[in-house]
Amino acid sequence: MSFKRINYRRVTTFLVIFVLVWMFLLIKDIPKPLKDVRNKLSAEQKYDNIDKEAISQKVDVLFERVSNELEESNRLLLEVQQKLLARHGGGAVRELPKKPILPVLVVACNRVTVRRCLEQLVKHRPDPETFPIIVSQDCGHNATYQVIKSFVDSDPSISVVLQPNQSDITVPKKMRSLKGYYKIARHYKFALDHVLVTLGHEAVIIVEDDLDISPDFFEYFLGTYPLLSKDPTLWCISAWNDNGKQSLIDLASPGLLHRTQFFPGLGWLLRSGVWGELRPVWPEA
Ligand SMILES: *[C@@H]1O[C@H](CO)[C@@H](O)[C@H](O)[C@H]1NC(C)=O
Ligand SMILES: *[C@@H]1O[C@H](CO)[C@@H](O)[C@H](O)[C@H]1NC(C)=O
Repeated sequence: MSFKRINYRRVTTFLVIFVLVWMFLLIKDIPKPLKDVRNKLSAEQKYDNIDKEAISQKVDVLFERVSNELEESNRLLLEVQQKLLARHGGGAVRELPKKPILPVLVVACNRVTVRRCLEQLVKHRPDPETFPIIVSQDCGHNATYQVIKSFVDSDPSISVVLQPNQSDITVPKKMRSLKGYYKIARHYKFALDHVLVTLGHEAVIIVEDDLDISPDFFEYFLGTYPLLSKDPTLWCISAWNDNGKQSLIDLASPGLLHRTQFFPGLGWLLRSGVWGELRPVWPEA
């Protein structure tokens, strides 16, 4: 990303210098015809035969030409700037903070194997400041909490929050078997509120405690994050593809993104604005 930014600056600087030099050359040209006019003027004065009106008309024409050229240069400069901005996402991208912070929310419950997930996140994370890790634990499972706490104690960029409402959920008889989903929905609401409302983050990457991430997980989200502000029809970005089998994907196109109406979930990135729309209608399960 920073490489792209440097390039962008260089291109802009080059174009600005180019246009300025061009304008300078244009203006430098001007005195010549003006000199001609003056020479003509003195020549005509010599013969005491001045057509004042014709000369002032010529000067007016020259000045008009100069200002037209200047206007045209400014217009071109503006056009170049706009094109460059459009290529880099325009106004929408400028909405995003220069150095985004994309916290990773780990949704945990009663599996001590959350250790594996945390180890991978720590291992592949390029920068703890950009990607602080926030573990939200439900279920009040002490052994799992002890594992999480060992990470929190050894790394200031990792924190833990406990879902405080451990009350039982009364579920309609028919739905008994789905009780787990009610608890997950309650936990997600709490956890997303914690990161996006209480802590006020602009976006969040959500992972569950049993997810294995790939080495380019963080790069993927850092690179695709600007798309969420560029395209308001995007709801979220997921790193998961349910159909991501070797025989079904194009192995030669690692940069290929698919637009889908199916929610893949798992490792996914959500902006706070979308959470603002979702939380009032968040389902019980
Ligand atoms: C949780 O586990 C730790 C370490 O095994 C233990 O010291 C602590 O007493 C336990 N806490 C509860 C509330 O069971
Ligand atoms: C705890 O969760 C239950 C079930 O979702 C809910 O009815 C209750 O209002 C919650 N309590 C608090 C304090 O949020």
